[in-house]
Amino acid sequence: MFKRKLVALMLGTALAASMLTGCGSGSTSSSDQTETTEAAASSDSADTADSGDKKVGVSMPTKDLQRWNQDGDNMKKEFEAAGYEVDLQYASNDVQTQLSQVENMISGGCDVLVIAAIEGSSLGEALDMAKESNIPVIAYDRLLMDSDAVSYYATFDNYMVGTVQGTYVKDTLDLDNAEGPFNIEFTAGDPGDNNAGFFFNGAYDVLKPYIESGKLNVVSGQKTFDEVATPAWATETAQSRAENILSSNYADGTNIDVWLCSNDSTALGVENALAANYNGNYPIITGQDCDIENTKNMIAGKQSMSVFKDTRTLASQVVKMVGQILNGETVDVNDTDTYNNNVITVPSYLCEPVFADANNYKEILIDSGYYTEDQLK
Ligand code: BGC
Repeated sequence: MFKRKLVALMLGTALAASMLTGCGSGSTSSSDQTETTEAAASSDSADTADSGDKKVGVSMPTKDLQRWNQDGDNMKKEFEAAGYEVDLQYASNDVQTQLSQVENMISGGCDVLVIAAIEGSSLGEALDMAKESNIPVIAYDRLLMDSDAVSYYATFDNYMVGTVQGTYVKDTLDLDNAEGPFNIEFTAGDPGDNNAGFFFNGAYDVLKPYIESGKLNVVSGQKTFDEVATPAWATETAQSRAENILSSNYADGTNIDVWLCSNDSTALGVENALAANYNGNYPIITGQDCDIENTKNMIAGKQSMSVFKDTRTLASQVVKMVGQILNGETVDVNDTDTYNNNVITVPSYLCEPVFADANNYKEILIDSGYYTEDQLK
C-alpha cells in the first residue's frame, strides 16, 4: 500500500506546480495576535450564495512557528474570497488561551470552527459547548482527541510523512546493499500532538529492520517515541537534547551518519547543536514543512531533505469542506479508518505530502509561488 502511495508521491512532486492553488504565501510575524475581519464583498465564486452571512472561527496554535502563520493567512484569504466572515486567532502555544478563544468564537456566533489544537486532548469543554450549540468542528492538521464533537479532520497523510523520511534514509545509505553499520539518532515531536506518533512510526517502521539487524546503530540507545519526543516541538529543547547526546556519545570522535528529525523546528535545534558540538562527517538530517530557515539550510547542505505540506492545498480543502457542511452536501473525505480519537473515528481528508530537497526546491517552492527567491537568500 505504501509503495503505491510513494509512487503517487513522486508523481505528486512532478505535478506539484499544477496542483497548487496559486494563493499567496503568508507573513512570518513572530508575535501572536488576533485578527477579526469582515467578509469581503460577495464574489461570484460558486460557494458564495450561502456563505455571505456565515462566520468561521479559525483557531491556530501559535505564530511562533512559520507554518501556522501560512495556514492562518491562507484560510483567511480563501474564506473571505468565498464570502465568509473570519475570526482568526492564534493562541501563543498556551492551552488556556486557546480554550477561551474557542469559547469566545462560539459565543461570538461562529457557524463553523476550524481548530489546529495546541494539545489535542485539552479542548474538551469548548468542544462540548460547540456540540450543544450544533456548531460543526473541523480538526485542522492535528486531530482533536477524546471528544465526539469532532465532525471532520483535514490533514496531510501523517504516517506517509514519516515513511518519506525513513525511505529517504534507507535509499541514501543504500541500506539493503551497503555494509554499514551506520550510526543514527532520532528526534521526534510533541507527545501532546497526535501527529507526532504517526510521523515517528512512519519513519521507524521503514528503518526498524535495519536497526534490528544491527546495520543501523542507535548509539544513544534512545529509540522509543517517549525517549526521543520534543515537548511543544521546541527548537531549543531539541537542541539541548542533541547537545547532551553529542557530548555523551560522540565526543570521542564517533561519527553520526543520520539524525532523523520529525520536522523542521526540531531539525533546526539538531543543526544548531551539531554546528557547535560536532566535528565529524556531517550526517543526513531529515525534516518536514520546508520552513524558510530549513530550506536555506538545505540549500547550504546543512539539512538533507524536508517534506513539503502545501498549506494552500490544505486551506482550500477546508474551505471546500466548510461550504459542503453548511450547504448540507456530502463532505469530501478519503479516509474513514485511520484517525480514531479515543471516542470516535473521525472522517478525514488526507492531502499528500511531497518530498523536497536541494534539487527540487526551486520547482516546488519558488515556481509554485510559495516563496520568492529573495525569501530564501
Ligand atoms: C504539524 C507539523 C509541524 C508540527 C509543529 C504538527 O502537528 O503537522 O507540520 O511541524 O506540528 O508545529
